[in-house]
Amino acid sequence: MRDPQIRWHIYADSVKLAEAVTRSTVEQSEHAIRERGAFLMVLAGGSTPAAIYSLLSRTDCNWEKWHIYFGDERCLPRGSADRNDSMARELWLDRVGIPADQIHPIPAELGAQAGAEAYAETLAGVGEFDLTLLGMGEDGHTASLFPGDPAGASPQAPDALAVSDAPKPPPQRISLSANRLARSGNVKVLVTGAGKKEAVMRLRAGDDIPIRAVCPPGGLDLLLDQAAAPTVPCEPG
Ligand code: 6PG
Repeated sequence: MRDPQIRWHIYADSVKLAEAVTRSTVEQSEHAIRERGAFLMVLAGGSTPAAIYSLLSRTDCNWEKWHIYFGDERCLPRGSADRNDSMARELWLDRVGIPADQIHPIPAELGAQAGAEAYAETLAGVGEFDLTLLGMGEDGHTASLFPGDPAGASPQAPDALAVSDAPKPPPQRISLSANRLARSGNVKVLVTGAGKKEAVMRLRAGDDIPIRAVCPPGGLDLLLDQAAAPTVPCEPG
C-alpha cells in the first residue's frame, strides 16, 4: 500500500482547530470558484466536524457555487438524527443558500449495497473534489473504512463501498473508497481528544490503519488538537 505524505498540524485545542479549518475552507472555496466556477467539498461524519459546520453557517460565502458530497453515511432512514447528513444539515446546510440540487446525500436508506451503487452513479459524473474532510476513530478507521476491511485503495475500486459489519454502530454503512476520497485537491484529517491519541501514535508508527490507504497526490493534512497529539514532538509537517 502506498503511504500518503502526511503533514502534521497541532492546535492548542479543538476550538482553534475548528477556526483554522473554517478559515482555510473559505479561502479554498474562493480560490476554486475564481479558478473553476465551483467548489466541491466532501464532508466528514461523526462529531469532530460539528464546530466547523456551525462556524461555516455563520460565514458569508458564495454558496450558490458550492457542491456538497459526503464521505460516508450510516444506513438509517433519511432524516434520522444519527445520520451524518442530518448533523451537517442542522448545523450548516439548512442555514445557508447552497442550492438543494448541489447537496448530494448518500442514499443510505436504500441499504448498503443499493445505496453504494446509486452513489457511485452520482459520483461517476463528478471530477476531482476540491476539499475532503475526514475524521478518524479510536481504532484508526476513517469515513466508514475500518481496520481489516477492504479500503478500496486501488484505482479500479468502486467509488462507493457497501459496509455490512462496521464495529462502530450502525453496522450497515456506505463509504467512499480510499481511492475516491483521495481524488481531491486537499484532504484534511481532523482528530481531536485524548481518546484518539493511541490511533495517532499508531499512524505515526506506520501501522496499517485505513487512513494510510487514502493517498491524495498532494498528501494529507493531519490536524490534531494538543489532546490527541503524541506526547513526543512530531516530525515537522
Ligand atoms: C461516522 C464517521 C466516522 C467518524 C469517526 C470519528 O459515520 O461515524 O464518518 O468515520 O469520522 O468515527 O468520529 P468522531 O468525530 O465522532 O470522533
